[in-house]
Amino acid sequence: MPVNLSNPRPLAWDSASLDADTRAMLDNLQPNILRAHVREHLAVLILRFNDAAEGRRYLREIALTHVKSARKHLEEVREFGRTGRNGTPYVGIGLSRAGYRDLGHSVADIRKFGDAAFKDGMKRRIAEVSDPPVEQWERAYQREIHAIILIGDADPEPVERLRQRFVRDLPESARVLGEESGTGMRNPAGDGIEHFGYVDGRSQPLFLADEVEREPRTNWDPFFPLGNVLVADPLAPNPSRHFGSYFVFRKLEQNVRAFRQIEEDLADDLGLRGEERARAGALLVGRFRDGTPITGKEKAGGGPVANDFTYDGDDNGDRCPFSGHIRKTNPRSFGREVVMARRGQTYGERTDVPWDDAEPHTRPSAGVGLLFMAFNARVADTADGRFGQFEFMQRSWANEPNFQVEGTGHDPVIGQGEREIKVVFPKTWNRPDRTPAMRQVTQTVTMMGGEYFFMPSLAYLRGL
Ligand code: HEM
Repeated sequence: MPVNLSNPRPLAWDSASLDADTRAMLDNLQPNILRAHVREHLAVLILRFNDAAEGRRYLREIALTHVKSARKHLEEVREFGRTGRNGTPYVGIGLSRAGYRDLGHSVADIRKFGDAAFKDGMKRRIAEVSDPPVEQWERAYQREIHAIILIGDADPEPVERLRQRFVRDLPESARVLGEESGTGMRNPAGDGIEHFGYVDGRSQPLFLADEVEREPRTNWDPFFPLGNVLVADPLAPNPSRHFGSYFVFRKLEQNVRAFRQIEEDLADDLGLRGEERARAGALLVGRFRDGTPITGKEKAGGGPVANDFTYDGDDNGDRCPFSGHIRKTNPRSFGREVVMARRGQTYGERTDVPWDDAEPHTRPSAGVGLLFMAFNARVADTADGRFGQFEFMQRSWANEPNFQVEGTGHDPVIGQGEREIKVVFPKTWNRPDRTPAMRQVTQTVTMMGGEYFFMPSLAYLRGL
């Protein structure tokens, strides 16, 4: 039975009755796609090859020795749950369109990839998503990138060991164009946060039965069919068993000082005092810092970070504005086909305490941010009219001031492009009163560079 990418039931990956094709798919899929891999410590190598044979040999060797399968990863997670034994490090390999070409693939081969954004490369898509001109990107990303290697683990040592080894083994003809490193940040409750101080990574599409079953799902169903992230690997020996995923990588710098000042100014404009002031930031993000969705509660707090909610009953944005980052990027009552698996990681050192209320001037204004990473089945819209995921979300939702309702404004966190129109905010939670029209908050997240990759099947990589 061919792998059913639209199976309406979550994948029971360890079921004895799993069909042979799905089994082969899991044995040949890279980890971190269907389920997030632990990557509290992450190293990223951005590479360029200049010799096809040497590049192939290098990647094949890493794939054979260090890239585990999705199934192995899932087994490790199960084992950790039972015995507390740590799994092996995550190693992931992605190739850009230029990378496939440089590894010796023909134009005809590359045409087999369905995604227009991947085939163009990120530099040629800046107009689509209002990215800054390439000349303003960091040097490493201005160059032609062929491959990305991700190395992740719960501890720093295995990551550093593998990083050194992969750099050492690089053939003479190849170059490390750039490196990134990310370290997870957590609040006192132990939840992962991003640099503005908010809990991040909570809302995800889930594909596996054991993950779905753990979630309350009365209002919002976090289950998505495999086709949300997987596509047949067109260059693998058997594309009906060998799958991959388009991987979006973007380095997004966060001006934390400016964002914190914006929160304070908005709280002043709304006349908020004391603990109420936290509502200002929640209006921008859609969640309070501790992750509490503002559509459900006027104040933060009250147990584990909720995700079983929709915006039903908040039809006019009286609680969560339509512009709020999480409402913009997942309206929840439509647009499920646009949802993508986010696997981001924070980068940059902090000497301050990211989740506390210290003054904005004590915050970093550069050098910290998010290595935004996401797996997609479609980055761009398709020729036959299906919406893309990353590009559609960034362009038609985050950057679109009239998305959902005229005059909504840009996504205040990630919106790009001129913020010309004025906007209003709900003054009192769950009441129809609004502030006078005011200028939109300024942009505090800057795209520093990135690339579109394909994360191929192990069958492809091992056969290089
Ligand atoms: C959720 C912050 C970039 C799409 C969130 C959340 C935070 C956050 C705090 C709430 C946690 C959660 O619901 O999981 C940020 C910051 C960014 C950034 C600080 C940049 C530095 C992006 C980008 C996109 C994106 C570039 C896509 C174009 C989403 C989506 C959700 C989300 C889809 C989940 C919404 C939901 O399902 O309710 N982000 N984000 N984010 N973000 Fe971002």
